[in-house]
Amino acid sequence: GEEFSAFVLCDGENFQIIGYAQDHKRVYDGDQGPNTGGMGCVSNPLIVNKSIKYQVLSIMQKTMDGLRKEGRSYSGILYLGGMVVRGEAYVIEFNARWGDPEAEVILPGIQTDYLDIVVAVRSQSLKSIKVICDKKVRISIAGCSKGYPGDYSEVKGKEVFGLIKAMQLPAITIFGAGIKRKEKRLFVNGGRVFHLVAEGKDILEARKKAYAAMEQINIEGDNLHYRRDIGWRDMERLKK
Ligand code: GLY
Repeated sequence: GEEFSAFVLCDGENFQIIGYAQDHKRVYDGDQGPNTGGMGCVSNPLIVNKSIKYQVLSIMQKTMDGLRKEGRSYSGILYLGGMVVRGEAYVIEFNARWGDPEAEVILPGIQTDYLDIVVAVRSQSLKSIKVICDKKVRISIAGCSKGYPGDYSEVKGKEVFGLIKAMQLPAITIFGAGIKRKEKRLFVNGGRVFHLVAEGKDILEARKKAYAAMEQINIEGDNLHYRRDIGWRDMERLKK
């Protein structure tokens, strides 16, 4: 099947699905190599069509009802890890947290004041607000140390170049991860060093911007690794 994830706000009683994403877990292009924490993702992916959205809604309703019956009503963000097999949505797992790099493509699209959302979740009044999200497509690419998710110790401490310049490009946001700042310079301090997020009216625009911005960045000694095919499934779907 094909993986997707749904992000759901819950207040113990009611819920609202605020977005969908598709992560790319393998380290190399073509979904090859070992699993990672996530090499990049797309929001909202085309695999999540009307029928899948409807199925997720029904799964979530059953989940909330089940939790309540068991006396474990849940409030906060729920991450539904799902899989689509021949048009049917299945649950792989639930995480009681945001995803990473999924949060980076979903949170920027939320137009409603985040404090109002948190207050509604905490006070069990999610029904009284409608969380508005924009319609933009976002794509994130994880900038990694060469060697990740294996041994990247030789890359640790090396300087990261071009990040500040890339951040200033239109429609680009960069989130630091395994990175350390010393005065105005940036250094590697982890496997996934940063997540670059680009937004656009569709996947084509977002992807073009994301990869143009990635071109500006490197790690000393040519030690930057990132996938060059994030969003490939949606690109293939557009060709059909
Ligand atoms: N990106 C996968 C996760 O956060 O679990």
